[in-house]
Amino acid sequence: STTVSPTPVPSSELVLPPRDYFGPTDCYNFPKDFVFGVAGSAAQIEGAIGLDGRGPSLLEKLVSDDKPKDYVTNENYFLYKQDIQRLAAMGVEYYSFTIPWTRILPFALPGTPVNQQGIDHYNDLIDTVLDAGMTPVVTMLHFDSPLMFVASDNITKHPDIGYNNGGYQNETFVDAFVNYGKVLLSHYADRVPIWVTFNEPLLYAFNFKGADNVVKAHAQVYHFYHDTLKATGKIGIKFNDNFGVPKDPKNSSHVLAADRFQEMQLGIFANPIFLGKQYPESVLDTLPGAKPLSKSELEHIHNTSDFFGIDPYTATVVSPANEGIGACAANKSSSNELFPYCVKQETKNVYGWNIGYRSESYVYITPTHFREYLFYLWNTFRSPILVSEFGFPVHAEAESEELSDQLFDSPRSVYYLSFMSEILKSIYEDGVHVMGALAWSFVDNWEFGDYTQQFGIQAVNRTTQQRYYKKSFFDLVDFVKTRQPNK
Ligand code: NOJ
Repeated sequence: STTVSPTPVPSSELVLPPRDYFGPTDCYNFPKDFVFGVAGSAAQIEGAIGLDGRGPSLLEKLVSDDKPKDYVTNENYFLYKQDIQRLAAMGVEYYSFTIPWTRILPFALPGTPVNQQGIDHYNDLIDTVLDAGMTPVVTMLHFDSPLMFVASDNITKHPDIGYNNGGYQNETFVDAFVNYGKVLLSHYADRVPIWVTFNEPLLYAFNFKGADNVVKAHAQVYHFYHDTLKATGKIGIKFNDNFGVPKDPKNSSHVLAADRFQEMQLGIFANPIFLGKQYPESVLDTLPGAKPLSKSELEHIHNTSDFFGIDPYTATVVSPANEGIGACAANKSSSNELFPYCVKQETKNVYGWNIGYRSESYVYITPTHFREYLFYLWNTFRSPILVSEFGFPVHAEAESEELSDQLFDSPRSVYYLSFMSEILKSIYEDGVHVMGALAWSFVDNWEFGDYTQQFGIQAVNRTTQQRYYKKSFFDLVDFVKTRQPNK
């Protein structure tokens, strides 16, 4: 065998990256009105599923079919005061949570009774958040559609992600959701200044009708909030999106593939809501039953979100179907008509950070792609961006590791510090309006089936329900607090 001696690089050619290249950056402070908070969702933490007049939700159907014993959650329905105090004690400013439709309207549909016990519970929860010096952010629908409401629909399981559809395509969906939204706003808008109508609608809007219903229902609730109630807070919508990055940005067919990928995921909702633009042509041309919005519908829908909520967990390198490598969701027999395009996906994660993440066809988003993504969203939709969830899962740490190991979660700290750094660079170097960021999740919780993916900045003992702060929580809060000179 031959040995090749490497030639040393002359020191004159040695280039160091900028000091804050890998974050955290020391150069910038958060804008005074930056929304810094943490998030969770009812179905993933509350428990108490049969109590106080709550109706059944679709998620219990999912659980009872698959893993009945796993649905213990964090008993937050009983422990919410303590959970809220724990956040306030850490210096969290905004607490983002969800109110389940099934606790407010157990029979779901318009004209059915409002459950006073549910109303009282969230009155108290909201007051507790405010008394603790924090600001509540409320999401109206976070996957937990009332079972009653979807019972008439054909409940099918998503072949890739295991969720069931949420009845979004049901004929009665728009009226029912709008009625529910109005009940929530009438009771709580006086104390809750930031609202989200839908969480990640793409995951449940399985076909064109489902997406169309989401867009229309969202717009009606927005108008009720601002035009009828004359409320002055903010109301918007939050999306999941597996950010499509062209494999070769210089190749126009790759750029086109990435654009189409984005259109099917985001444009279908965001074009009408943020731009007053018709549904993307790719949607109208390919989805069965797709109909364009009329001029008056578009006028009613345009500008009905005060911010662009995004949960940027994943990115995917996209190339045209016949050129890429790796698995392609659309090649499987998928019942989700929203993904008829086959764009191939690479599975490489530059930082090795996709430990335990859902599927090998997704890439856990890197800090660099995250910043590119913020730039893309701002350039495309020109709306203040709320990073409505971001977080870092560790596989099965609750089951497989010592508590002390769980609490010393340095990789999660690195994740939060570098992503918060990218937000600062995005604001100050790219001119992007990032309104805020909500860390997911404020506590380890039920990830729709089990506890194998843990996103929490606190751990939970699943027997005693005792909570423990993790290192990343302290690091995240310190990062923000040391960059808020005006607070
Ligand atoms: C986004 C969803 O809204 C949330 O419920 C889930 O736990 C996280 N993604 C992590 O998968």
